[in-house]
Amino acid sequence: MTKIVNSWNDFDPLKHVIVGRADHSCVPPEEPATSEKVPIDSPMRGMWGPRPLETVEKANAQLDNLARVLEERGVKVDRPSPLQWNQPVITPDFRTGSMMTCMPPRDTLLTIGNEIIEAAMSFRCRYWEYLAFRPLLSQYFNEDPEFLWSQAPRPRLSDKSYKHNYYDERISLEERLVRTANKDFVTTEEEILFDAADVLRLGKDLFIQHGLTTNRKAMEWFKRKYPDFRIHAVNFPGDPYPIHIDATFVPLRPGLIINNPHRKLPEAQRKIFEKNDWQIVDAAMPAHKEPPPLCYSSVWLSMNCLVLDHKTVIVEASETNQLEQMDKLGMNVIPIHFRDAYAFGGGLHCSTADVYREGTCLDYFP
Ligand code: NVA
Repeated sequence: MTKIVNSWNDFDPLKHVIVGRADHSCVPPEEPATSEKVPIDSPMRGMWGPRPLETVEKANAQLDNLARVLEERGVKVDRPSPLQWNQPVITPDFRTGSMMTCMPPRDTLLTIGNEIIEAAMSFRCRYWEYLAFRPLLSQYFNEDPEFLWSQAPRPRLSDKSYKHNYYDERISLEERLVRTANKDFVTTEEEILFDAADVLRLGKDLFIQHGLTTNRKAMEWFKRKYPDFRIHAVNFPGDPYPIHIDATFVPLRPGLIINNPHRKLPEAQRKIFEKNDWQIVDAAMPAHKEPPPLCYSSVWLSMNCLVLDHKTVIVEASETNQLEQMDKLGMNVIPIHFRDAYAFGGGLHCSTADVYREGTCLDYFP
């Protein structure tokens, strides 16, 4: 029996990780939580169904390459077991035409120390996504006597969980920004809702983005679940589509974090970092003007990097500005091509979930 699960942050030496798979991925039909997140000019509007096979194969080739690069550096890599995602999701409370993918494990699984929590996600199409990770979690449970396997309270995702008529195609970008500033999002406070990728882990402190995929009730749940931790609700007023913190606020090593210059952390919340001598650096501008076709994410996947240890980071190979900035910040950079995987759910950080990083739970903000 060995210790398999341990991770307290995103920068200590990575030893074991899950890398997603794109097989059978679908563009899901619109539903209350997703319509808000698909930009009005996106060709994804109104379309749904299996993604073209050729794009799935290209994404899988880049995901397999990421797994190979990690293994070459001594990181153990596990892969999920994709379902046939084109099946409908039917519960007593809702019905939707298809599921989505298990490509971004970062949204579904949250590792905190020796615990992995299956998140309470707000997309109906992602209701069963955790099943793709069950064979792995079951294996960890059998082999690691200290592994805590948890599931956040399962949301019902009934109509009460969403503000209806929240989404309106006529809403301008400025109005969206006002909504973000006012913390007015599509989900209600009916039940606990969060995506794991909204949680930034820094030892005893969890910085959780309040936005389209995570509500206040989730913050309250984390407070009660981890009474010895400090839970910080963070909100980035410059983001018209606030989903997931990992293209907005990305730590590279203790004391250093890059922040999306269009989505700056508000002054009051910067204080905790500055008081503890952390440097918050504006991330480099993305090298691309547009995300790839059929992609949910923004060009800021440029900063969605995977840190292997305090000196080493994997960055998307065409993101020349970001590569250069990492180098200037004293990181050894491993460039790998990954843009073909973006449309399936995100960048290098999104596409992985921590199983084991060396290190313990430190207090970076005493
Ligand atoms: N909201 C983010 C998602 C990052 C994983 C973006 O598209 O910028």
